Amino acid sequence: MPRSQQQFDLVIAANRLPVDRVVGDDGEVSWRTSPGGLVTAMESVMRGREGAWVGWAGEAGDAPEPFVENDMYLRPVPLSEDEVAHYYEGFSNDTLWPIYHDVIVPATFHRYWFTAYEKVNRRFAEAVCQVAAPGATVWVHDYQLQLVPAMVRELRPDVRIGWFDHIPFPPVELFAQLPWRRAVLEGLLGADYLGFQRVADAQNFVRACRQLLGLPTKGDTVSVSRAADSRRVRASAVPISIDYTGLEAVAKLPETQQRAKEIRESLGNPRTLLLGVDRLDYTKGIGHRIKAYGELLEEGQVCPPEEVFVQVATPSRERVAAYRELRHEIEGEVGRLNGEHSRIGAPAVHYLHHSYPRQEMAALYLAADVVLVTPLRDGMNLVAKEYVTCRPDEGGALVLSEFTGAFHELHQAFVCNPHDIEGLKQTIMRAIETPEKEKRRLMRAMRRRVADHDVQRWASRFLEALAVAPDRPQRTTKE
Ligand code: ADP
Ligand code: G6P
Repeated sequence: MPRSQQQFDLVIAANRLPVDRVVGDDGEVSWRTSPGGLVTAMESVMRGREGAWVGWAGEAGDAPEPFVENDMYLRPVPLSEDEVAHYYEGFSNDTLWPIYHDVIVPATFHRYWFTAYEKVNRRFAEAVCQVAAPGATVWVHDYQLQLVPAMVRELRPDVRIGWFDHIPFPPVELFAQLPWRRAVLEGLLGADYLGFQRVADAQNFVRACRQLLGLPTKGDTVSVSRAADSRRVRASAVPISIDYTGLEAVAKLPETQQRAKEIRESLGNPRTLLLGVDRLDYTKGIGHRIKAYGELLEEGQVCPPEEVFVQVATPSRERVAAYRELRHEIEGEVGRLNGEHSRIGAPAVHYLHHSYPRQEMAALYLAADVVLVTPLRDGMNLVAKEYVTCRPDEGGALVLSEFTGAFHELHQAFVCNPHDIEGLKQTIMRAIETPEKEKRRLMRAMRRRVADHDVQRWASRFLEALAVAPDRPQRTTKE
């Protein structure tokens, strides 16, 4: 396999590059920040580190030539139309995503989807090996690339390989449904170190290795022994975070503060502005949130324009049936609520199906009195951490589902079980009505947590664990 002219000591592999290639109607090419928490976090980590990022540029067809953006060397991996359908929309997002998120919608199994997954994972592994310098650190990301660790090890035994799971790792009872469960576990076991969002995710992985592969495990370590390969692989929790300093600085800009005021003014200076920010994904509990809000409207506990609800729903995976159905459902519900509860100039729900620049997001967070984070299952949920970061004024309140990774860190949130609509309504009302002084105390504590555990600390912890594994395994410590 030919090696690239340019080689790096740190190589990141993620399904997406940090930017998507977009071709306008006039044929002009531009690059746009890719969606999702993985890119938000890793873009900050890679800024200021010399390294290469191997990933897909977001459109089917030939890959663009490698290029440098923000000091990062980006190495695009091509995906054909069929591979987008079978590897990305199919196996990654219609088989693995539902299984890893508690089967909120049923998972679909097709053997030809897995064949495409294997083929694309091999292409990623080869691209990684081309740009990895001898003895490099290779950091593979997320569920789309679970076979890459073993494939890279086979091609390049000299490199050190880590993998981080941005989403939950399911309990063995759910994972066992996957017809390709062995291949996935063996793919991951090609790594030296595996990082997860929660202690429970790492434990689920270790248990799956024990029960489904019959491998010996001890604490957070799995022993792998095959003919010439006898190693220990460590799996532990390193919860991801955000660029606290950078985002807080954006929130403090006078222009952002001004924009937050304008947002509130354009909404009629409500007493309470409630905000939801999510990719339009069935894991996010958007429907549960709207149902709870609708009942509060019906009962007169909230009344527009005194209370205003803004839901930002980023378009996501729009060719996957479950996402199309979700959009139809959510937009139907929003329409129904607005039909029943809006008055001219005072809509009950403001629904925005767009992506926004970072500064506009910061202004929205700054404008919001209550942010509703109600996923049914979420690896971390960076929106929760971004919200508290954007509140140097210590204002605002966070309603947070106990089924997010963030719940295990942000103990001062208004905690909810989104399945319990009555409980969710009460929690929303508590978040609205708790006295300001108490809310400030809660916000201050959550801000301290994110400030102390920012994305750079996460990356350092991951890379240190990778550097010492498996020779000096450390035990998972709960922070
Ligand atoms: P996920 O990775 O599942 O999408 P997270 O909450 O962890 O969920 O991360 C979402 C990221 O996407 C956050 O950084 C958030 O600010 C960003 N984001 C969400 N909606 C929008 C939007 N409409 N415009 C721009 N960025 C958005
Ligand atoms: C989550 C996943 C990421 C993914 C992102 C956006 O954050 O963990 O791997 O990139 O969602 O989803 P998309 O399918 O658009 O890449």
